[in-house]
Amino acid sequence: MMKAGLKDNRPIGVFDSGLGGLCALKELKKLLPNEHFVYFGDTGRTPYGTRSEEKITEYAASDVRFLQEHNVKAILAACGTVSAIALERIKDTCSVPLFGIIDSASRSASAATKNGKIGVMGTGATVKSGVFETKLSALGDYEVYKTACPLLVPIVENNLIDTEIAYHAIKHYMSPLVSTGVDTVILGCTHFPLLSEKISEIYPDLTLINSGAEAAVSLAEYLMRENMLCDEKNGLTEYFVSDVPNNFDTCAAVFMGGALGGEIKKIDIE
Ligand code: DGL
Repeated sequence: MMKAGLKDNRPIGVFDSGLGGLCALKELKKLLPNEHFVYFGDTGRTPYGTRSEEKITEYAASDVRFLQEHNVKAILAACGTVSAIALERIKDTCSVPLFGIIDSASRSASAATKNGKIGVMGTGATVKSGVFETKLSALGDYEVYKTACPLLVPIVENNLIDTEIAYHAIKHYMSPLVSTGVDTVILGCTHFPLLSEKISEIYPDLTLINSGAEAAVSLAEYLMRENMLCDEKNGLTEYFVSDVPNNFDTCAAVFMGGALGGEIKKIDIE
């Protein structure tokens, strides 16, 4: 039931270890065009997926702190690695609703699979955490197969999506996964949806779950349900990064499917 008479014109915060979260932001901007967004990409400390749980948690805590300094009304950790490793540990330090990508992606995979066999692709840290198996087992009786795909992150960040390198890396990681008979695969890292087209060319029968986009839908539904949307058109997006790598503009445009449409500010997160 909708709560009457409330509104919330504060921005929505979104963060990732780098640019992958832009996939989720793109979806959020489509769903909620009037909202004000603050995006933080920790481009100076990416990747997170190869780091220890302590480091990932420390980084995630500082990212959340940074967004809270911008008076956000909710935060989406648009990063599979942070969602898998750090969210439970830092949620008590966050005074606004804090969302990750695991729950929504698991729910979508559970709804999509026909044969009950679900594949999970993610960073090393995400796959090792076992968090998708835990979530999926709470939703039903599924066989879950997983594979860590660390090389896919730099392939995407370096805009090598439409290359032989991407083709061979996808085959390398996905052949064993597909041979288990999975019919649905969770792209459990927010960088991977950029490779969806390429993956579908190679494995046309698989249903791919875009974890960033699913999380965006889930957050939008929550804000609507709680009557937390803004009541005046804003549409502004502020971008913050902790470093501006050489190929930043090109890559960011690939993730957003066009120009960012907002100023990019470099900040010192440490
Ligand atoms: N976007 C991150 C994720 O979803 C992957 C990149 C990284 O390793 O930092 O897990």
